[in-house]
Amino acid sequence: MSNNIVIAIDGYSSCGKSTLAKALAQKLHFIYVDSGAMYRAVTLYFLRHHIDLHDHQQVVEALKNIHLNFHSRDYQTHITLNDEEVSEEIRQMPVSDNVSAVAALREVRYEMVKQQQRMGRSKNIVMDGRDIGTTVFPDAQLKIFMTADPKVRAERRYKELHEKNPDITLEEVFENIAHRDYQDTTREESPLMRAADAIILDNTNLTPDQQLEFALNKIKGLSEP
Ligand code: CDP
Repeated sequence: MSNNIVIAIDGYSSCGKSTLAKALAQKLHFIYVDSGAMYRAVTLYFLRHHIDLHDHQQVVEALKNIHLNFHSRDYQTHITLNDEEVSEEIRQMPVSDNVSAVAALREVRYEMVKQQQRMGRSKNIVMDGRDIGTTVFPDAQLKIFMTADPKVRAERRYKELHEKNPDITLEEVFENIAHRDYQDTTREESPLMRAADAIILDNTNLTPDQQLEFALNKIKGLSEP
């Protein structure tokens, strides 16, 4: 395969995008970028500094003080916010409850998309998110749009979170996912939607191995003349 291949994986909250993206990156030796982690880290900064989302100037100033970096060991997402490792904290409910409002801000999206596009320049990457196939890399060679039954998605995320956070409830997780899906699909700035040329992957009844196989078959199709 040639250099600079981009695989864009978009879809609803907690439907296994990052599981698939990581597995693909590992298999193909591509770089994996979790774009959601960037919006989450920005949200963590905004929460800590009590940034008023309606105050344009405050938002712009805050963005100037945010420096994000990925450290990809072992294909897990390790992200630093101004040199502090925040990979665990950005997955907790306070960030999950606020991230979609922060990600709806034009100033935030402009800055993140710029950084994401830079990461994809002259490299082979798999990036997952909400607007990767529509806005960040509209020319991506392969676009996958993922979906799954909302109940199944909530159960999967609950299992993940519950291990470290026994107080969390399934209802809380379900509500959060439903609310984020609503906010992400109805916002004005690059809302979550399927790119016309994206392949739909519903993984409600698929194992991680099966979804990987599905995607690898599509990639095989790309390299055939
Ligand atoms: O892992 P999960 O599906 O729960 O979400 P995520 O990928 O970590 O993304 C968290 C939130 O960031 C989403 O609900 C969106 O509001 C926002 N996001 C976005 O707007 N655009 C992206 N490319 C990625 C995430």
